[in-house]
Amino acid sequence: MKQELEAIRQRAISELEAAKGQQELETLRVKYLGKKGEVTAILKKMGSLSAEERPVIGQLANEVRTMIEDEITKRAAELKEAILQERLKNEALDVTLPGRQRPLGASHPLSIVLDEIKEIFVGMGFDIVDGPEVETDYYNFEALNIPKNHPARDTQDTFYINENILLRTQTSPVQVRVMEKQKPPIRIISPGRVYRSDAVDATHSPLFHQIEGLVVAEGITFADLKGTLETFVKRLYGEDSVVRFRPHHFPFTEPSAEVDVQCFNCHGEGCRLCKGEGWIEILGCGMVHPKVLQNCGIDPEKYSGFALGMGLERVVMRRYNIDDLRLFYENDVRFLKQF
Ligand code: DAH
Repeated sequence: MKQELEAIRQRAISELEAAKGQQELETLRVKYLGKKGEVTAILKKMGSLSAEERPVIGQLANEVRTMIEDEITKRAAELKEAILQERLKNEALDVTLPGRQRPLGASHPLSIVLDEIKEIFVGMGFDIVDGPEVETDYYNFEALNIPKNHPARDTQDTFYINENILLRTQTSPVQVRVMEKQKPPIRIISPGRVYRSDAVDATHSPLFHQIEGLVVAEGITFADLKGTLETFVKRLYGEDSVVRFRPHHFPFTEPSAEVDVQCFNCHGEGCRLCKGEGWIEILGCGMVHPKVLQNCGIDPEKYSGFALGMGLERVVMRRYNIDDLRLFYENDVRFLKQF
């Protein structure tokens, strides 16, 4: 029995040393110390021993059991530590590595200038409103005093969804929508996309942007229009800019005007930028036509107002000296990075 115990001990130790996981340790524990384990079997056979042998073998058997138990505890701790070390190694983070740089985007020049324009008008007490890009014939034309067969429709051919529904050619329909819903005083601007069936070239695009302005209240005069626009132009182009109003015609305003800014490049002399004219046209405007007010349920005897419409692309091209409209829509980062 002594030899048997000695053999068990050696086998147990070497097997425990080779064990690679908690599960294996448990299996070995059952194998040696369990109810049907090898050490237990020896202890059960003690009864057949002589009185002198029993305490000696008993002691030895207990020693072996304790040794195996201790070894299991030791191995368990070692395995746990090994797993931890492995995890630490795998999850190691090298904080000295250089960071990854993500390329930063930038605002589109149209957005940059539009934001500025909005800020200027908000500073004068205007609200910013939105309108639909898919419009009805009524809002885009009819209510703005442009009946079917009116020559003004020629210059604003667009994309029709059907006879009555179209992509808006101007932001002016928002005027009508606002006046229908809101009682004067009204003071809004409405920027957005507009569409015309124009072929693409350096100055034309089937999609571009306008900013509509509308003020309606009691006692609004052309002087208010001039003052507002002069303030706007000076804020946008600088205090020394010079503004000129030129008589014009729009079906939905009377009187109407186009507004020019003196060329800031040549100060009126005439240069390549202003095509030799000394002035650069930036917007159309006028006093809201009484018929338009009436169409929207506003009494033209009591209220009056002014409106304006500005092409955003033009303003931005002038601002940054961009000579081709197509650059705005090509999404070439080399262009976009310049602003
Ligand atoms: N909607 C006009 C256009 O697209 C621009 C315009 C002119 C708007 C005069 C106005 C205005 O509000 O009063 O050509």
